[in-house]
Amino acid sequence: MDSKIFITRIIPDPGLVLIREHFLPDIWTSDLPPSRGELIAHSHGVDGLLCLLTEKIDGELMDSIGSQLKVISSMSVGVDHIDVAAATARGIPVGNTPGVLTDATADQALALMLSAARRIPEAERFLRAGKWVTWQPSLLLGADFTGSTLGIVGFGRIGQAVARRAQGFDLRVIYHDPSAQPVYGAQPVDMDTLLGESDFVSIHVPLTEKTRHLVNSEFLAKMKSNAVLVNTARGGVLDQTGLYQALKCNRIFAAALDVTDPEPLPMDSPLLELENCIIVPHLGSASKKTRDLMSLLAAQNLISGLKGERLPHCVNPEVYR
Ligand code: GLV
Repeated sequence: MDSKIFITRIIPDPGLVLIREHFLPDIWTSDLPPSRGELIAHSHGVDGLLCLLTEKIDGELMDSIGSQLKVISSMSVGVDHIDVAAATARGIPVGNTPGVLTDATADQALALMLSAARRIPEAERFLRAGKWVTWQPSLLLGADFTGSTLGIVGFGRIGQAVARRAQGFDLRVIYHDPSAQPVYGAQPVDMDTLLGESDFVSIHVPLTEKTRHLVNSEFLAKMKSNAVLVNTARGGVLDQTGLYQALKCNRIFAAALDVTDPEPLPMDSPLLELENCIIVPHLGSASKKTRDLMSLLAAQNLISGLKGERLPHCVNPEVYR
């Protein structure tokens, strides 16, 4: 097949090998994403675009690519970087990579909960600074995890996988998600009950116009003062100014963020001054096996779209009606 393809970064082998069995793609080989101008230039006239969550794919770009564009495939489960409505209006299927990163992301949420509760990064900084002089009864005391209450905001695949893990720690799990059925012993509650009763609040909603800055000063003010907030969803779900103020005055115990807004987080962000805020560079799905599978799914979506077949994982199936 002689379709034209642009891939916006070198993706793990499984997907690349599969694509190269059929096509000769143009691949952006820098570690940094293409600039807007570079994206427009390289994607002009392509039949298929494989992108990452670092690229903004809007209607203007789709039009500049041209009406021959058959598929947009993102190597991510989240698609907030893509104007899906604009793609649907143009009849372009958009593919994503659900399922394969559920476990890795749920693992990361648990790792961050425990790290924040037991102050692991802070304790390591303390040790490396040469401050460990003796065992002390009150040194770096953290929050209890086992037996506490976990509130999950957004009870889709990843939220449910977190609930399943929580069973092993004897957590009481409550969740807020009007569209989800209870599983793994988790109990549905309204948002105010969740915030008022949870010792840990873990965010698992996609970023949409409705969820932007869902976690704001008002949300944080309703949390318990001993509570830990964990965000492995999208940075834009959280108002970082409100979070800074809440952490600075110990309104809540700690926060752990896998995602920020913007990404990367500027090094002058006040959040970086805080001992009670853990921040890691968007690593929820960052295990070798997970990224290999994401690459493979993204390639399968791309190839199906180019062949005019239904994408195995399509976020806008309305294009097929
Ligand atoms: C990662 O954040 C993803 O959406 O895959």
